[in-house]
Amino acid sequence: MDNNRGQWSSKIGFVFAAAGSAIGLGNIWRFPYVVGENGGAAFVLLYILFVILIGLPYMFAELALGRSSQKNPVGAINSIKQDSLWKWVGGLGVLTGIGILSFYGVIAGWTFGYIFKTATGNLGEFGDFVSNPFIVLLLFAVFMFITTMIVYGGVERGIERWSKILMPILFILLVGLIIYANTLEGSGEGLAFYLQPDFSKITGRTMLAALGQAFFSMSLGMGLMITYGSYVSKKENLISSAFLIGLFDTLIAIMAGLIIFPALFAMGENPSAGPSLVFVIFPKLFTQMPGGLIVGTFFFLLLSVAALTSTISLLEVPVAYMVDEKKVKRKKIVWVVALFTYIIGIPSALSQGASGFFTEFSILPDRLSSPDFLGHMSFLWGDFSLAFGAFLLSIFVGWVWGGENAARELESGSPFFARTKTIWIFMIRYFIPIVIFMILLNLFGIFD
Ligand code: PFF
Repeated sequence: MDNNRGQWSSKIGFVFAAAGSAIGLGNIWRFPYVVGENGGAAFVLLYILFVILIGLPYMFAELALGRSSQKNPVGAINSIKQDSLWKWVGGLGVLTGIGILSFYGVIAGWTFGYIFKTATGNLGEFGDFVSNPFIVLLLFAVFMFITTMIVYGGVERGIERWSKILMPILFILLVGLIIYANTLEGSGEGLAFYLQPDFSKITGRTMLAALGQAFFSMSLGMGLMITYGSYVSKKENLISSAFLIGLFDTLIAIMAGLIIFPALFAMGENPSAGPSLVFVIFPKLFTQMPGGLIVGTFFFLLLSVAALTSTISLLEVPVAYMVDEKKVKRKKIVWVVALFTYIIGIPSALSQGASGFFTEFSILPDRLSSPDFLGHMSFLWGDFSLAFGAFLLSIFVGWVWGGENAARELESGSPFFARTKTIWIFMIRYFIPIVIFMILLNLFGIFD
């Protein structure tokens, strides 16, 4: 991507950058623990259903809006409906990027720290690690610094090339770990938990968790795909690109579960341990596996790279907004936004035991969020705000911009889309906003 308004060098460049944004901690850290908390296989099915019926068709809308306007989320909305209240929907996306990055960067910092912990064989207790204020704040700072340096310098040379090499290696490593985990004694029970649905486990909160996870994992609902879509040329096929992004993203998440659940049951651990799940199970797996510390070091390194291609995209949305709309210099504003994000991320970093106040920060009811500050941020920005943003953006695209106009943009580069566009217009105008709306209402216990 160019620092000025450029274009991706190729379709593959765009698909890799967008898949790089989508694939991250959401797949390997968040997906397994959300599945564990929500009862396993039934949730996985619901998740896949939401990816296909809501995530994908909604992704078309964001990409179309971005490519047609060639702008950030606020600019894109303004270019269609000038100076209306709708621009606040873009503004919500910009804020959501900062909100997500503020806690995501903390977890990315843990991942980074685990590279060294595994390499030195000094794995210790996860709880001791995350409750050490100096370590977590330092790692968070280091990760934010690396992210900022890359967004500062432009994304194309370094990160695009490296992710093209490293992401396939991550894939192969996951395949190896799936094989190993499923040969452990007692792993079959984990596989059953993960793959044999029990539909009585589905509740209103489960529905929002599945929908929120689908949006989070595919980087939807905050205008990231508007921003990345704005760098795509008119010749590219947005539909097939979106399919590939959704497919890779879902595949990696499903694969992570195929490691975690068999391993977890084999070790007699509890699947509903929450955000610590992956950081407890993977190190245990590496400790008992032959050559495990080397494999583990490599694993956390690749996971850090996956997280990095996501933090870059999270920072890129507010930066693109400031550069386009406020006419500030990219190289200055990057540091300002990153520093601001770091400061509001400090409570999240301290909320895993370092500060009693932020660790027991219970404002939201327990059925919505875990009782710590990070859990609150994750629910507020990662679940609620993405779903709410997607609700408003689908109405904007379907009704204000118009389904027909959006469909015309999508046809450019994918002429066959014309044949299915009536269905898509129906989905973006009615189906998607109505489903999201009902799930959001359900949050307030309306249907209970
Ligand atoms: N999709 C990323 C993940 O699964 O780790 C997180 C994310 C990145 C969410 C960018 C939203 C976003 F705009």
